[in-house]
Amino acid sequence: MTVPAIEAHVNYLAATGERPVSYTFEPPPGIPPFSGRRDARAVRIGDARSLAEHPTLDREGFARVDHATAVRDFDDDAQVRGTYYAEVEALLRRETGAVRVVIFDHTLRSTSPERRAEKQAREPVRSVHNDYTAISGRRRVTDHLDPVEAAERLCRRHAVINVWRSIRGEIEEVPLAVCDARSIAPADLVPTDLVYPDRVGEVYSVRYSPEHRWFYYPRLRSDEALLIKTYDSLEDGTARFSAHTAFDDPTTPAVAAPRESIEVRALVFF
Ligand code: OGA
Ligand code: FE
Repeated sequence: MTVPAIEAHVNYLAATGERPVSYTFEPPPGIPPFSGRRDARAVRIGDARSLAEHPTLDREGFARVDHATAVRDFDDDAQVRGTYYAEVEALLRRETGAVRVVIFDHTLRSTSPERRAEKQAREPVRSVHNDYTAISGRRRVTDHLDPVEAAERLCRRHAVINVWRSIRGEIEEVPLAVCDARSIAPADLVPTDLVYPDRVGEVYSVRYSPEHRWFYYPRLRSDEALLIKTYDSLEDGTARFSAHTAFDDPTTPAVAAPRESIEVRALVFF
């Protein structure tokens, strides 16, 4: 089915055969923030709101839900960790049927350099990636649960889901594009070291494929949430990894409000 679409550039990883290393902070002198080579490609990004069948977490690997929040100020860490985490936990239980949800981090992002400095928000990520790999997704469970519970939970289905939303009105610039998990082949996913000051995580960078089917939700509102599956222990054809990226939307109005968003990452157990 063809839906209205825009064309935009997204940054893939060029195929060099090397394992890329990406820094989340200013790397030591002489080391680049990203060792891989970018491969910018023009892609069609369809309007997911126009799809006859709404995408689901287990089929496409992403889903949009109506979800109002009582949080008035996302700069207030207490409101985020108190009110918002509880709202997201309830949302994920309802949407997935999970028996346990463990929220383990969140990130604020802004396109405005001033707001970033003020709030310790990060920049949008303009490169195609998935936050976890088969290894690092599973590792999240042992990172965040005590050993006895982790051992038990790892025997059953477990997943990681990101909950992404605008925290300031409708998204007018630099929206998030999501790729249909069914259009991604295992060979497109390249394990990449993600270096934090205190640990090294593993994410997937993504190589270009003409098969990729991209979508976005135009003008996503702050009473909507975008759920993205970033890891699933199932290997039966259920969406396991998706891919996503921020992109510069060519239809953005000349004067646009900065994009400000929050993403929460959660382990969900079945
Ligand atoms: C995410 C993510 C990037 C962005 O939520 O996992 O990659 O620009 N976000 O919001
Ligand atoms: Fe991400």
